[in-house]
Amino acid sequence: MRVVDVIIIGAGAAGLMCALTAAQRGRKVLVLDHANKAGKKILMSGGGRCNFTNMYTEPENFLSTNPHFCKSALARYTQWDFLAMVQRHQIPYHEKKLGQLFCDNKASDILTMLLQECAEAGARIQLNTPITAIQAQGDGFVLHSNQHSFHCTSLVIASGGLSIPTLGATGYGYQVAEQFGHSILPTRAGLVPFTITDPQLKAFCSALSGTSVNDCVVACNDQSFKEDLLFTHRGLSGPVILQISSYWQPGDSISIDLISDRDAGAWLIEQQAQHPNMELRTLLSEVFTRKMAQLLCEHWFNSTPLKQYNAKQLADIGRKLNNWQLVPAGTEGYRTAEVTLGGIDTQEVSSKTMESKKQKGLYFIGEVLDVSGHLGGFNFQWAWASGHAAGEVV
Ligand code: FDA
Repeated sequence: MRVVDVIIIGAGAAGLMCALTAAQRGRKVLVLDHANKAGKKILMSGGGRCNFTNMYTEPENFLSTNPHFCKSALARYTQWDFLAMVQRHQIPYHEKKLGQLFCDNKASDILTMLLQECAEAGARIQLNTPITAIQAQGDGFVLHSNQHSFHCTSLVIASGGLSIPTLGATGYGYQVAEQFGHSILPTRAGLVPFTITDPQLKAFCSALSGTSVNDCVVACNDQSFKEDLLFTHRGLSGPVILQISSYWQPGDSISIDLISDRDAGAWLIEQQAQHPNMELRTLLSEVFTRKMAQLLCEHWFNSTPLKQYNAKQLADIGRKLNNWQLVPAGTEGYRTAEVTLGGIDTQEVSSKTMESKKQKGLYFIGEVLDVSGHLGGFNFQWAWASGHAAGEVV
């Protein structure tokens, strides 16, 4: 039996932050992971450059059934605290946009930093170790794997959500939570592209696959985002779609403003007065790519010289450009989702320490909890903050 103070299940973002924080306090820490490598999602993140935090992190950037839960941890370990560690390790970084901080070089800079901090503090990491059973025993826990048994006083579940199973994601954390009497709120894929099945619409998206439209405003369920939209062979993607997907439920309609910097109807009337002989398609290709202008005219409007439209027709075209309503068929699911929405009900977890209110010594951190961030570095900031909160007390 191997005896340590703290066992953390999951060597991802939250688990490594918790490990280094607890080990720096002198706790004997062991991190167990079933995967053959620590931090696989960190390595894949941000297109290989890891969007490791966001300068404008606020509780409003997170979705949770219990929106107050994230506040305490986020306030006690902020984006600036993580940035200070990045700077201490002399990792070059830059702001891409909207406060999103990325590595200049590789995402592995962040993983190397975390592993180095763990090693210096004495936290051990054991990979290829799936846990077969957990029992509460006395004032701690006994864990069994195929090869060993372990005893710890504090047990931290940092096994993440369900997104991208090929990167090692499992529902194990939910299983452990249920074993100790916790409720799991329904889970679904978040920050994920939409699929379209309507044949005409799908053909439209597919023909434009790879085309992006800058600064679209997409709205659903009283939430809206302004970012770039990308057409794909199967539907719609791009940052603005990923953001709104977290607020979308099957059957909901979304509204897309393709030309959000102007009132399209008023602009068309103005252009009609100035260029009466210009074809609509030519005018639209000043705003969209030529191919997109062409396809918009084929699918939605007839392209004729502007003088041939009456005011109502121009207003209708404008409305369609400013408020394209569509119902996505679904999402690409956990295969490509960046996060899992829902998870362990935070009403049953302390927001200060991340300790279970049902089982003393048991902690939950990171994505396994019902806290999910917007796109832009917020999910890592939640992993760092919740990992740090638990690491200070385990
Ligand atoms: P995480 O998933 O990081 O770690 C969980 C660990 O638990 C893994 O190592 C896994 O192997 C292990 N595990 C799972 N089941 C287990 C079991 N049964 N036994 C033992 N171990 C087990 N966020 C962001 O802020 N900026 C970004 O740039 C990106 N980019 C990005 C790209 C892609 C492709 C994805 C999929 C996700 C992102 N994210 C992101 C989201 C971010 O990666 C995510 O929110 C955090 O990694 C969550 O951290 P956790 O530590 O909670 O889980």
